[in-house]
Amino acid sequence: MEQKKVAKLDLGNGEQLIELPILSGSMGPDVIDIRKLHATSGMFTYDPGFLSTASSSSEITFIDGDKGILLYRGYPIEQLAEHCDFMEVCYLLMKGELPTNDQRDKFVKSINEHSMVHEQLIRFYAGFRRDAHPMAVTVGVVGALSAFYHEALDVSDASHRDLSAIHLIAKLPNITAMAYKYNRGHPFNYPCNHLSYAANFMHMMFAVPAEEYKPNPVLARALDRILILHADHEQNASTSTVRLAGSSGANPFACISAGIACLWGPAHGGANEACLNMLEEIGDESRIGKYIDRAKDSNDSFRLVGFGHRVYKNFDPRAKLMRETCHEVLNELGLQDDPLFKLAMKLEKIALEDEYFISRKLYPNVDFYSGIVQRALGIPSSMFTAIFATARTVGWVAQWSEMIADPAQKIGRPRQLYTGVTTRKVLPISERK
Ligand code: CMC
Repeated sequence: MEQKKVAKLDLGNGEQLIELPILSGSMGPDVIDIRKLHATSGMFTYDPGFLSTASSSSEITFIDGDKGILLYRGYPIEQLAEHCDFMEVCYLLMKGELPTNDQRDKFVKSINEHSMVHEQLIRFYAGFRRDAHPMAVTVGVVGALSAFYHEALDVSDASHRDLSAIHLIAKLPNITAMAYKYNRGHPFNYPCNHLSYAANFMHMMFAVPAEEYKPNPVLARALDRILILHADHEQNASTSTVRLAGSSGANPFACISAGIACLWGPAHGGANEACLNMLEEIGDESRIGKYIDRAKDSNDSFRLVGFGHRVYKNFDPRAKLMRETCHEVLNELGLQDDPLFKLAMKLEKIALEDEYFISRKLYPNVDFYSGIVQRALGIPSSMFTAIFATARTVGWVAQWSEMIADPAQKIGRPRQLYTGVTTRKVLPISERK
């Protein structure tokens, strides 16, 4: 961080202007450093929803929402999606550089060594209702990991942080696939380490003891791409949740569980499930107009799920790639005429041409397409957000580890603008009205 300029703030009280350093990163907007504002002025800034606030500095992911740019450690997402697999992207996010062949092999080996879960943990599942949502199960089971893998919970030790990160990345597919199998009433599958990360996940989801299962490489590659595109996304709500939880020194499993809980919301990672549910509810092309009208009606809380993004205001580069994958998968499976897919394409076209959506810069986001891809892969919509969580785990652990390693790190403690009742006196109960 470099300080080049100074901002001068007039508090309107006739006193001297307050000088605030302006800091520059390597790319993106400069920031006004207000860390000393309260000490010098007694005031806080007010920014609910963090619309204008950089909550941290980070070297991991860069987004330019206006230009539709997403970089992991400086590499454009388009190039990573084309040339790398998810394991290489995990290595990159965690270590800062793409791996050599040798480094990749060692990394994959360490992930494979930890892909199973403790047998005792498997008993947890029997405590959930059969119809429990996979995200409810995942939040619980991931939080419980700290009761099993407590040999490396000294968060100040980088080797402990790395080991916990490996545990989490390795076990998430297993944990979420078991949540699905439990719903289905199928036996759990142990991981098959000769398969790729994505193919192994498909094996744990879809294989049954009665039949041989061979993951289709085109579909495994599509799932791998979903994982790459969702691996990190800067300081979004769930990542900020992980950082805030971690800032107290909480263990990584608890922090990632908090991130998973946040991700579940329909305005965040729950959007792909909500989008598919919405498409099913629309049901027929003839009903699209009605839903578009509802989305535009300011008195109706309905939103067209899968459209709009807090950061991308021109296009979401992940959505472009996912759209490509969507067509590849539907071709591979001969599903081009699938009614739900045709409905989605019609909705996309209508919304892209509608003045309401154009003027508000509401474009299809990655979840609009990823839901369709996952449905084509045979994944039920209740699993979509769990897959997003599996992908995002590497981003969360990378961001968490970066925060802990920062010597300037402090516990996160936002302040507030109090609007409640002013000081008053407690009356004895007999005198209260
Ligand atoms: N359908 C209809 N109108 C919308 C939509 C939508 N999907 N999204 C935003 N608007 C309208 C909103 O009503 C407002 O209109 P007006 O200016 O007349 O009041 C305007 O667009 C700006 O909306 P906003 O809520 O201020 O925008 P935001 O940047 O705070 O919200 C969002 C971003 C993603 C929460 C929102 O667009 C949304 O709810 N989209 C649907 C849910 C969704 O698809 N979420 C997935 C996001 S991508 C996955 C991820 O990265 O987590």
